[in-house]
Amino acid sequence: MTERSKTERPKFVTPKGRPPARRKAVAPGADMFVGVRPPAGPKTAYYDPACTLCPRLAEFLTETHHVHPDYFARPVPSFGAATPKILIVGLAPGMHGANRTGRPFTGDYAGVLLYETLHELGLATAPESVSADDGLQLRNARITNAVKCVPPENKPLPDEIRQCNAYLKAELQTLKSIRVIFALGRIAHDGVLVALGLKRSKFAFGHGAEHTLDDGRVLVDSYHCSRYNTSTRVLTPEMFKKVMARTCELAGL
Ligand code: URA
Repeated sequence: MTERSKTERPKFVTPKGRPPARRKAVAPGADMFVGVRPPAGPKTAYYDPACTLCPRLAEFLTETHHVHPDYFARPVPSFGAATPKILIVGLAPGMHGANRTGRPFTGDYAGVLLYETLHELGLATAPESVSADDGLQLRNARITNAVKCVPPENKPLPDEIRQCNAYLKAELQTLKSIRVIFALGRIAHDGVLVALGLKRSKFAFGHGAEHTLDDGRVLVDSYHCSRYNTSTRVLTPEMFKKVMARTCELAGL
């Protein structure tokens, strides 16, 4: 999902202006889920595939499942290392991206720059995330969203952000290996502060801002890598790589 994008399928143009790769198999069996609803993962302390705590979002997922029976159309689980040093926090699944594939930032424009940069910095095994079964792995990094369900019009309501924050809180508490939290956009930044019980007024959001938290972890902010931000060059690939490289440095990578 993007903070200022529309719900229709995006026209794919990469930040470097070249056409994006087509769905391609990068591992044996990579097309296994084409036309089939991707399977749900297990329930954990910080993820419930059957969560219906937000009635509006639960209803929207049910409708989405009827319209697109092959879409994941459930809360989207975090993806990446089990003991990450870096936790990347996005906003919410995109309708035809994470909500379709079941992996954050996968299958729509928002993930293009993210996975390309993760790969350049050695945090991802491939530069493109195509589907949940494409074999891509993250090293030392994990991606989650402040809101786990796709929201109508790409806009979660304040109550939904608050409700879903319990999962982010549980993930931050459970994964003790996390040294740096990389927030993509203001909603993710605020969500992290709320999850950690910190005052928002003490930590102002800004691209490249670094906030040392009470527990010694560092929160690093970036503009969201949405289609809107990258196509208007509010966020350039160079800006994004710089802030993510600094995140790696702070994480001791
Ligand atoms: N896809 C996600 O999973 N999260 C976002 O914030 C945007 C797109």
